[in-house]
Formats: sequence, C-alpha cells, structure tokens
Amino acid sequence: MSVENKVRRIVASLFVGLLAVWGQAALEDNAYDAASGSLMVPVIDIGSETSYSAIFSLVSEQPLIWGADEFTEITKDSRTAAIYDGENGTLWIPEIFVLGSLYSLNFTISTTCGFAVCIEPDVSSLQEDGRAGSAVFTTALSSSSTFTCSTCHAISETDGFAVDGLKRPGHSLMNVTKRESYKNGQHDDLRDAVNTCVTEWMNTAALQETDTDWINLLNWFEDQSTADTAELISIDIVDPPVDLSGGDSQNGRELFNTRCLVCHGLDGEGTPLAPQITETGLTPEYIVSRTRTSGLVDSPTYSGLTGGIMPFWGSNRLTDEELIDIAQYVSEGAEEILEMGGDDPGNLGETGCTSDHPKVGQTAVFQPGFHDVSGTARIIDDCTIDLENFTFDGGGIDVRVYVGNAGFFDETEGGFAISDDLVGIAFSGGVLRVTLPAGRTLDDFDSISIWCVAVGISFGTGFFE
Ligand code: HEC
Ligand code: HEC
Repeated sequence: MSVENKVRRIVASLFVGLLAVWGQAALEDNAYDAASGSLMVPVIDIGSETSYSAIFSLVSEQPLIWGADEFTEITKDSRTAAIYDGENGTLWIPEIFVLGSLYSLNFTISTTCGFAVCIEPDVSSLQEDGRAGSAVFTTALSSSSTFTCSTCHAISETDGFAVDGLKRPGHSLMNVTKRESYKNGQHDDLRDAVNTCVTEWMNTAALQETDTDWINLLNWFEDQSTADTAELISIDIVDPPVDLSGGDSQNGRELFNTRCLVCHGLDGEGTPLAPQITETGLTPEYIVSRTRTSGLVDSPTYSGLTGGIMPFWGSNRLTDEELIDIAQYVSEGAEEILEMGGDDPGNLGETGCTSDHPKVGQTAVFQPGFHDVSGTARIIDDCTIDLENFTFDGGGIDVRVYVGNAGFFDETEGGFAISDDLVGIAFSGGVLRVTLPAGRTLDDFDSISIWCVAVGISFGTGFFE
C-alpha cells in the first residue's frame, strides 16, 4: 500500500476509532462519512479552556486536503484531543486508533483551499505507537489465555450492567485510577492490582511500568474518568449456599444469559472461552460451589478459592437467590432431552458406550419433507444419536426414526428403526435422543429419516457427513 493510501485509510478510520475510544455518550454525531469523504474532528484543543469540534469537507484527494469554515465551541477536554499549534500552523492528532493499533499524525494547516481552515496530512509524521489502551482492554494479552480484561470487567456500567446488557464477574473499571486502594485494601498501586488479574486469571507475565501496553491502558483509564475521586469497591467471596430448594429455572435461564453467557455462550452451549455446561449432568451443588469459589487454590490475592481458571462470583456481583435459579437451570439443561430406544434398544440404560468410531461427531441435516420435520442429527458416541432442534408435528401413521444407506430406509433395503413410534408427540425444537439397537453399529448406515413405516415414505431425510 502506498504511504498516501495508508494515510487515507488511517484517517478514514480515525473518526470511527475515536468514537470507540471515547464512547458514544457526549459525541454521538461524530463520524467519518465515507460517501462524502468529510471528517469530523471531535475535539480540537487550542490550549485554552474551550475546545472546538469541526467537520472538514474533502477538498482534494491528490494531494489529500480537507477544509472547514465553521468551528463549534465545546468544553470536552481530553488527552486524545487533536492539538492545534497556531505558531507552527499544525494540527496534531496524537491517537489515531486503526485496527487495534495506535498512530499519530500531524496535519499542516493553511487557508489556501477555499475554506477558512485547510488541513493536509504530513505523511512523514505518521507514527505507529503500539496498541491503544482500548485495544489492550479488549484483546488477549498473550497466547496463554483467551480472556481479555473486557471478558470480566466493563469500563462503565449502569446498575451493574454494561452497555451490552451483560453483568460480568468483576466490577466496572470506571474511575479505577481514582480509587485509593484495590482488592479489599491489599494493593495501593493500580498496576499491582491489575497484575493479580494478569497473572492469576490471564496466565500472563505481569505488566511492567514501562510496557507500552500498560502505559496505553493506564492512559485510557484516565481518559475514561468521569470523576476525580472514586469509592472503593468491596470483593465479597462467600461460601456457596447450602439450601438450594426453590430454584426457578426459567428465571435462571435469563440470569445465565446475562451473566455467564460472556464465556459459556448462549444457553451454556460453550465458546472458545469456556466449555458447554448445560445438558452435561452437573448437579446444583457442584454448580454453586464452582461459581462461588473458582480460582487458584493458592491464590496470593484471594482466600477460600478451590481451583479452576474461571473467576469466582462474589456476593455483590451475584446473589445467592440468583445463583440458586441459575443452578436449577444449568442442572436441568437448556432443553429437555427425550430419550428413546428402538424396538430392541440395545445400549439404552447400559453403562455408557465407547466413542471410538470415526463417524462420531458427524451430523446430518434433515431436508424438509412433510409434517414440519427439521433439525440436525448428531452422532454423539458409538450408539447414541441426538436429533437437535428437532421439529415434527406428530402426525402420520407409525412414524419412527430410521437409518439406512444412500437414502433408502425400507427394511427390504437395509433400513431399520432406532426409535419408538413418534406419532402423537409434537417436537418444537428440543432434543430427541435415540439409541442404536443391540447388534447394530455406525457402519450399518449413512443416512437418517423420519420414516412413515405404514406408507413407506420419508417425512425428512438427512445424510451424515
Ligand atoms: C477472568 C476474569 C478476569 C480478567 C480476565 C481480569 N479480571 Fe480484573 N478482576 C476479576 C475479578 C473476579 C476481580 C475481583 C472481583 C470484583 O471486581 O468484584 C477483579 C478485580 C480487579 C481489580 C481490582 C478492583 C478493586 O478496586 O479492587 C482491578 C483493578 C482489575 N481487576 C483490573 C483488571 C484489568 C486491567 C484486567 C486486564 C488486564 C483484568 N482485571 C482482567 C476478574 C478478572
Ligand atoms: C470469565 C469467563 C467465565 C464466566 C463469566 C463464567 N465462567 Fe464458568 N467456567 C469458565 C471456564 C474457563 C471454565 C472451565 C475451567 C474451569 O473449570 O475453571 C468454567 C467452568 C464452569 C463450571 C464447571 C464445569 C465443569 O464441567 O466442571 C461451572 C459449573 C461454571 N463454569 C459455571 C458458571 C456460571 C454459573 C457462570 C455465571 C454465573 C459462569 N460459569 C461464568 C469461565 C467462565
């Protein structure tokens, strides 16, 4: 990419980037308008109390020049403001945040473009200054952990919830540089407090005072501040509740999807950050104990933790009542699993079956046919198949799950049943778990059908791949 193009790309992203850094609150209408090429410079600091904002119109592409006639007075003051230097006739933009990197760029100012103020980027001044603080906050610090600060902390919250509607295990870090001490008074120095998270939760070497990442992060926290002082927060690690009766699964699901979702995913199905935890047979006792006391057993910072890389949830981030509802939901699973064997269910109820077969993990998507059949069949182990998100209106005469080869399911052609009669049971998206009859293996079929035995037609067919 030519330098000129690079500068253009950077400048183009600048205003979008600045918005992300500052948050939308005060500067909602700032934007780079790709269609017209005009630029909004949100804060121009001229060295007095008053700052200005301006929209610069694109005057020329070769060379790149923007111009503006009108400047609006604003009171916003920020370290990341563009700084106008009247003596040298330059406008310096110290932080241009593009694709996770930080640049600085100087513009020369003139009045020769037909506007009151014309700005032209000084390509030779372009500098790459490392990662911006907001990027440090939202990206992994090393390859040893997928967690970022923003996995566990929001920068700002309203009643405990971030703008994305989620409540995280750690408190908001708004005005964090203004707190006098951290971690229940154990640290006076912010970097020491941050480093306990970096080493204990992020499995990464402590940030040093001179690390660019640390300097950018600290500056960014400063920039975000809305006050000169801040109350200390209290971190309350408590014992797991003992009486778990009365949990409301419905409410638990909602709570789960606003607290635990950030790592465990929607309905606990798992993400690269944390494993699936619904439908895995966890007990409520285990769930509450893990949630309250997860973390390094020999943590130098926290006491009472019992192991795990998931952060504990203190009582001021999650109440016992909420936790009991969540435990009810997680232990029940996201959806009910209806288990069904064939006419001669071989392995059902027996103590497990192996999962060595190469077809384990294969899926077959049901092609729409009749009676609203849809969903995905997944081979769970050598003798179990789950029909996920399965729908079927329950109609027909003697309808069963059949498997066969190349889409042929009639028994004369090698097909055989792997469930009881489904007629009269309407499925609307749950899981139907079926088990291979004794003596049958995954080698015996490559396709699956919701098969109407009486008529000999398929209401929906899928091929494993
Ligand atoms: C895996 C989760 C996790 C990650 C990742 C994480 N933290 Fe924390 N952090 C916590 C928890 C849990 C606490 C203590 C509980 C609370 O805030 O109520 C905490 C506490 C803190 C505190 C102390 C707050 C105070 O006033 O006592 C600071 C500061 C902090 N974290 C900063 C950071 C920064 C900066 C990062 C990224 C470099 C980070 N944390 C990454 C979970 C995490
Ligand atoms: C910061 C990410 C994160 C958040 C948020 C989080 N978890 Fe976890 N959780 C993990 C990770 C990673 C594991 C697996 C490693 C471990 O056991 O520590 C885990 C494991 C678990 C386990 C044990 C699973 C098992 O099979 O042993 C339970 C139970 C659990 N989490 C419950 C919850 C609940 C309930 C919430 C919400 C209140 C929650 N988690 C929020 C990261 C998270």
